[in-house]
Parts: sequence; C-alpha cells; structure tokens
Amino acid sequence: MTDNYFSGKTAVITGGASGVGRSLAFALGRCGANIVIGDVDKSAMETIDRELEAAGVPHRVDHCDVTQPDSLQGVLDGALAAFGSVELVFANAGIGAGEAGPLWGYSEKDWQWCFNVNVWGVVNSINVFMPYLASRSERTHLVITGSGNGAYAVLPDVPIYTASKAAVHTITENLHYQVQAGGLPVVVSALFPGPHVVETGLFNSGRVRPEEFDKGVEGNETGINSVEDMKRMAEEFGINLQTTHPDEVAEMALKGLPDGNFWLLELTDENEAKIRRRADMIINKTTPVPESVG
Ligand SMILES: NC(=O)c1ccc[n+]([C@@H]2O[C@H](COP(=O)([O-])OP(=O)(O)OC[C@H]3O[C@@H](n4cnc5c(N)ncnc54)[C@H](O)[C@@H]3O)[C@@H](O)[C@H]2O)c1
Repeated sequence: MTDNYFSGKTAVITGGASGVGRSLAFALGRCGANIVIGDVDKSAMETIDRELEAAGVPHRVDHCDVTQPDSLQGVLDGALAAFGSVELVFANAGIGAGEAGPLWGYSEKDWQWCFNVNVWGVVNSINVFMPYLASRSERTHLVITGSGNGAYAVLPDVPIYTASKAAVHTITENLHYQVQAGGLPVVVSALFPGPHVVETGLFNSGRVRPEEFDKGVEGNETGINSVEDMKRMAEEFGINLQTTHPDEVAEMALKGLPDGNFWLLELTDENEAKIRRRADMIINKTTPVPESVG
C-alpha cells in the first residue's frame, strides 16, 4: 500500500509492539512513515524491532510505560532526536484486567491497573503530546484508541474495562471540541478496533501486569486468555463469535485519517441496532437489558 499522505511523516504508537498498534506500525511503515513504538513488553518489542528492520521501515522501539508521564516524554524526545518531527500520535496502549463475576467482588488492583493504563495512559499522552502537536504549523493527528464497549454500548461482562473506555471516549470527544474551539492544527480521532472482537493479545493482558497490581487470590478471573478461549466459550452458548484481524483495523484507520475524520469506526448492522436500542431505551426510559459481545 502506498499513500503519500503518510510518506515522510513520523508516527508514535503507544502499545505498538502487539495487536492493533503493531498493525498500525506496519501499515504506516508501508506508506513511507517513520515509526516510533513505545511499549512495556520487552519480548514483543524485540520481535517488532527485528521485523520492522527486516521490512526496511525507519523506526525506534522504546520502553515506555504510559502510566508514567516521564516515560512518554522520553518517547517524544527520542522521536524528535531521531526523525526531527512527529506528525501522528496513537494513544493506543490498553489492557483488560481479567475481572469476572459480581462487580462488588473485584480486586481493587484490577480497577487500579485498568484505570492506570487505559485512562491515565490516555490523559498522560494528551498532556505530553498535545503541547507539541498543537505548536506545529502544519496539520498533526492525535488518535486515541477507545472501544465500542463503553463508548456506545455497555456490555455486561467486563465492567472495569467498559468503565475505563467510557471515560476514554468522553475525554477524546471533549479534546476534539476544545481543539476545534481553539482553531488548533491537531485532528483528534477516536479509533474503535472492530467491528468484531479483534484478534490481539488484549485477552492475555496479564502478561504485562506489573507486580504492584498482582491481585494474588483476590477477585475472580474470567478464565479467558485468548480470542480462541472467547470463541470456545461463545460456542458453548450456541454463538458463532466473529472476529476481525488487527490489519483490517489499521487499514480502516489509515483510510479515515487523510480526511481528518473523528470517527475511525466501522459498524455492523448489529452494532447499529445496539446503538439504536440504547438511544431508544434512554429516550423511552425503559429498563436496561444487557447486550451481548460480538
Ligand atoms: N482487541 C479488541 O477486540 C479491542 C476492541 C476494542 C478496543 N481495543 C483496544 O485496542 C488497544 C490495543 O489493544 P490490542 O487489542 O491490540 O491488545 P494487545 O494486548 O495486543 O496490545 C496492547 C499493547 O499495549 C501494551 N501495553 C500494556 N500496558 C502498557 C503500558 N502501561 N504502557 C505501554 N504499553 C502498554 C502491551 O504490551 C501491548 O503491546 C487497547 O486500547 C484496547 O483496549 C481492543
């Protein structure tokens, strides 16, 4: 794929060593962009470093924990030192804490870890990258990865994750309004991986869970550690769970960015029906009924 819009630009991608971030890195690299990845997963970082090298993509892979503003500042400084400028930032790092069962039984460590990465990671990214992106004379992009689960639907299975992504969406939308009002050159976009469950490492986030948030025996675990586990569990309920490859998400995102789209979102008929049911429920004040994943 070649696209002059991205050629010569530099893209910073948090959580870029795996899943959606990794697909964004290769899709942008194929379009001629320089890639800077910030991630905490050392082994995935080593792998993508080798793979980007082999693909001939100019890149840097930095250890970066999005819960630490200094760590993000280090990525920006490194990107500027290596490539001179940054035009695109993808605040993409995110985790699922693995909560299961009744909401009042979750470990506080699940809440803290998930909000630290998913919400504070986005807030820290905005605080570190916005002043730079807004100071540029040409158009820049800040793309924030949210989730339909939280932004437009409240799926009942992972309340901590859903709550964190509801916060992420309202932050993203507010940022867009403020940037518009200020006449700034930054295009803010909300990226929704999908339209189905995306085949990534999100369901095995425990691999990068820091020791300080180890919950020991507190709280329940879902028993789901991969998309395959999800498919198996769905089958038990007679549901054929459809999935999306992360490359499709990257392709959808790259299609929308040159036009400056806020919504980087693909909806199935079923997703649209969920949004309509939700709006109708609020307008008609009917008792909420849960929607299903997929
Ligand atoms: N997979 C899906 O179905 C789906 C759906 C909607 C939204 N999302 C969102 O997509 C984004 C990317 O996730 P993914 O699905 O590609 O999962 P993934 O696990 O494959 O990728 C997430 C990346 O974030 C990194 N990360 C975790 N904690 C970090 C931290 N503190 N600092 C820096 N990096 C950190 C991980 O090491 C990993 O490389 C997340 O925000 C996720 O919530 C995913």
